[in-house]
Amino acid sequence: MIAMPNERTALLGAAPHSPLTAESLRVKQVEEQVTALRSSVICAFNQLLDLKDLNTGVHSTRLAEWGMRVGQELGLEEAELQNLEVAALLHDIGKMGIPDAILRKPGRLDADEYALMKRHPEYGWAVLRMLPGFERAALDILHHHENMDGKGYPAGLQGSEIPIVSRIVTVIDAFDAMVSSRPYRVGLPHEEAIRRLIESSGTQFDPDVVRCFISFAQAEMATVFAAAGTSVSSAL
Ligand SMILES: [Fe+2]
Repeated sequence: MIAMPNERTALLGAAPHSPLTAESLRVKQVEEQVTALRSSVICAFNQLLDLKDLNTGVHSTRLAEWGMRVGQELGLEEAELQNLEVAALLHDIGKMGIPDAILRKPGRLDADEYALMKRHPEYGWAVLRMLPGFERAALDILHHHENMDGKGYPAGLQGSEIPIVSRIVTVIDAFDAMVSSRPYRVGLPHEEAIRRLIESSGTQFDPDVVRCFISFAQAEMATVFAAAGTSVSSAL
């Protein structure tokens, strides 16, 4: 029996050795390789941050997860969410280029030291932009210390001029910095850190991002610090 034209097309499409199927398979394989390579790069850079003791602990990964959930809640597209994952995990990769004497200085930085510290977003951008597929995330990292009122750095961007991914990372980074303990100071209690996020909503931080972030953070903070093996009060 001779197959009708549409039946023949369906049969050809399903044939394991048709050129179309082989091509689709090849494209799928390449896509999987790119995804795996991308994950490996993120993982490798993350390990570099660990080696330099620049990840502040178990909760920094969880903060990146909360950042991703904020992005989903705010309706970011898939490509933006992928950039957000990179930026949330690796936003401070540029600190690799800051001397230890400044990174680990007990006490306040002087003006020159602070000026150098403020270059870490540029350093991170300069490294990540060289990796194909990371160009956009590199830009998001470049702007993760901009403020809504234009008083941030490096470009002094304001409001919606700041990429949304950067606005999300700004909140994560600030919260992480506030709650993390250092050898020379104890981190703030998370309730106080949340109060400060709210206080600087609209001037330093995007109010929508803060609102969304807090809704996750408040509900899950105790669980995160319990998982890290410390109580909330002693860890903060
Ligand atoms: Fe930073």
